[in-house]
Amino acid sequence: MTPQQASQKAEYICRLAPVIPVLVVENIADAQPLARALIAGGLPALEVTLRTPAALEIIAAMAEVEGGIVGAGTLLTPQDVTNAKAAGAQFGVSPGATDILLDACEAADLPLLPGAASASEAMALYERGYHVQKFFPAEAAGGSKYLKSLASPLPQINYCPTGGVSLANANDYLSLPNVVCVGGSWVAPKALVQAGDWDGITALAKAASQLPR
Ligand code: 3PG
Repeated sequence: MTPQQASQKAEYICRLAPVIPVLVVENIADAQPLARALIAGGLPALEVTLRTPAALEIIAAMAEVEGGIVGAGTLLTPQDVTNAKAAGAQFGVSPGATDILLDACEAADLPLLPGAASASEAMALYERGYHVQKFFPAEAAGGSKYLKSLASPLPQINYCPTGGVSLANANDYLSLPNVVCVGGSWVAPKALVQAGDWDGITALAKAASQLPR
């Protein structure tokens, strides 16, 4: 798979729904009910961050749930890529991008949504074939106003803004011509996961999946 093909695959995944849940999951027992709750609410693409000891097992468990596409987030190293792929991740997400990480994803045939927060970072990724990128950290890096400013000089590049995005500001991003979806943790709050309130999470996912694009 060339980077262009990988990026097309990433774009397909991004276009499945307006929001990709960003998940930080501690307990393996929560993996499948959480995935089912989000998918039932209309959010099939799920990003599990590699930030908890159980993350790889959680990816493996979620990958068995019908109707979902599970990816690994917070990919930083080639070892992360190998682990994510072995766990069954179908895509990867990274907060930024390095040549070493991009090489690893390309060698492993893992479609990547690489992070970029500046015009130069976006251009470097585009040169390599990545036309869909994660704008991170979205709110802190300048928010929707900043991202809108990139659309005129860089119309070929589309984004999934992530970091500080919520139901309240998602529309500011989703209404931009260079945004394919947004990423956010608000659809799976820690308190609801800990309480096992799967209906509550489905309700949040439903509201997110109905956001206009
Ligand atoms: C992350 O990688 O933590 C994402 O950017 C999620 O950010 P959020 O918690 O602000 O949605």
